[in-house]
Amino acid sequence: MAKRYSSVAISLHWLIAVLLAGLVVVAKVMNSLSDDDPLRFTLIQWHKSFGIMVLLLVVARVVWRVTHRPPKLPAAMKGWEKLASAGAHVALYLLMLAIPLSGWMMVSASPLNLKTELFGAISWPHLPYLTTLTDKQLWAERLVMSHHWLANGLLVLVILHVAAALRHQFVLKDNLMARMVISAEHKSRNDLNHGLLFGVIIAVAGGLYLAEQSQQQSIVEPAAVGDTAGRSRVTFEASQLGDPLTGVFADAAITFRIDTASPGASSLTASVLTGSVSTGDGQIDATVVTADWFASTEFPEAVFQSRIIESIDDSTFQVTGDLTIRDISREVVFNLVVADNVASGNLLIDRTQFNVGVGGQDEFVAPEVKISFQTPVVSP
Ligand code: HEM
Ligand code: HEM
Repeated sequence: MAKRYSSVAISLHWLIAVLLAGLVVVAKVMNSLSDDDPLRFTLIQWHKSFGIMVLLLVVARVVWRVTHRPPKLPAAMKGWEKLASAGAHVALYLLMLAIPLSGWMMVSASPLNLKTELFGAISWPHLPYLTTLTDKQLWAERLVMSHHWLANGLLVLVILHVAAALRHQFVLKDNLMARMVISAEHKSRNDLNHGLLFGVIIAVAGGLYLAEQSQQQSIVEPAAVGDTAGRSRVTFEASQLGDPLTGVFADAAITFRIDTASPGASSLTASVLTGSVSTGDGQIDATVVTADWFASTEFPEAVFQSRIIESIDDSTFQVTGDLTIRDISREVVFNLVVADNVASGNLLIDRTQFNVGVGGQDEFVAPEVKISFQTPVVSP
C-alpha cells in the first residue's frame, strides 16, 4: 500500500486549491466594483474562464480518485476521526463540483443569454433547458444566491480542513502532511510534471470538445456605406462582458433632406421599430424587447427629430436634435457625412438615460451603446 498520494493526486490537490483561492479573491474584487466599471466585466470573464477550468480539473480529479486507491489512514486515528475525515473530503468534492456548476447554471439561466467565451477564445455552451425557462429572472437570482452560499460553505469547510491538517502536523505529529506533498527526496520529479500536464490537458481537451459542440453565434456586421440600395439602415453596437453585441433594426426609416444653399433648412428625421431588432441570436432578440429593455409592446417606436443642422465642411454636418426611446427624450449631437448621395453617421448614447435595461441582469451589458445609421440623401 502506497504511503503517500500519487503525484497526479497531489498536483491536482494543490493546483485546484490555488485556483479556488484565486477565484474567490477575483469574485470579491469584481463584486466590489460598480456595474459600469469595465474592470468588472473583464474580471467576470476571467472568473468564468478559471471557474470552468476548475470544474474540468475537479472532474478529472474525481475520476482519478475513484480509479486510484488513496494511502491508508494512520492506524492511530480513531473511528470517528476517520469518519469525519471521509465525510469532510466527500463534502469538499461535492462543493468543488456544485460551485462551478451553479455558476454555469447561473449564466445559462440569465435572461440576457450572454455567451461565455473562455479566455476570450473558446465558446462555452449554455446548459440545455435553463435557456428555455420562462421565469429566468427569478431563477438567475436564485442561482446567484446558491453560488454565493455554496462558495461560503466551501470557505468554512476549507478552514476546518486546514485546521485538521495543522492538528495532524503539530498536535498529533503523525506526519500526515507529507502524504500530500512531493518532497525533494521523492524519487521522480517528473511525476509532478506529469500530474500538472495531465490536469491541463484534460481541461483544454474538455473545453475544446464542448466548444466544438456549441453553436457559434453569428454577429451581424453593420453594412458598409453604399450598401443601402435606397434603404435606411440603423444598427447598434454594445459591449457584453467586453465582447461586441451588435444588431440591426429591420424596420428603420430615416429621411435626410439636405439644402446645400442653406444648411439650416436641412432636416433629419428617423423612426425605428424597436421590435424589429435582430442580433443573430433569437434569445437575445426575445430579451431586448421585454419590459426591462425596449418594452416594445408599450413603446414600439424610437424616433429622432433634428433641431439644428450646421455645415462643417462640404460633406460633413453637425446635427443636434432629440432622440426619444421609451417616451424619454434626450438631446443628442453627432456628425453626419455625405458621400455618393448616402448620408451616414454614428452617435454614442448612454442606454440607462432612456431607462433601457436598468433592472435585473443588465450589469453584463455596458451602458454605452453606439448607434450607426445610413440613408440615401433626399434633395428638397
Ligand atoms: C481550497 C482548498 C482545499 C481543498 C478544496 C482541499 C481538498 C482536499 C480533499 C478533497 C482531500 C481528500 C483527498 C482524497 O482523499 O481524496 C484533501 C486532502 C488533503 N489536504 Fe486539502 N484541500 C485544500 C487545501 C489544503 C490546504 C491549504 C492544506 C494544508 C494546509 C491541505 C492539506 C491536505 C492534506 C494533508 C490532505 C491529505 C489528507 C490525508 O492524508 O488523508 N489542503 N484536500
Ligand atoms: C469553483 C469555482 C468557483 C468559485 C469558488 C466561485 C466563487 C464565487 C464567489 C465567491 C462569488 C461572489 C459571490 C458573492 O459573494 O456574492 C462568485 C460570483 C460569480 N460567479 Fe463564481 N465561482 C466559481 C465558478 C464560477 C463559474 C464556473 C461561473 C460561470 C460560468 C461563475 C460565475 C460567477 C458570476 C457571474 C458571479 C457574479 C454573480 C453576481 O453577483 O451577479 N463562477 N463566484
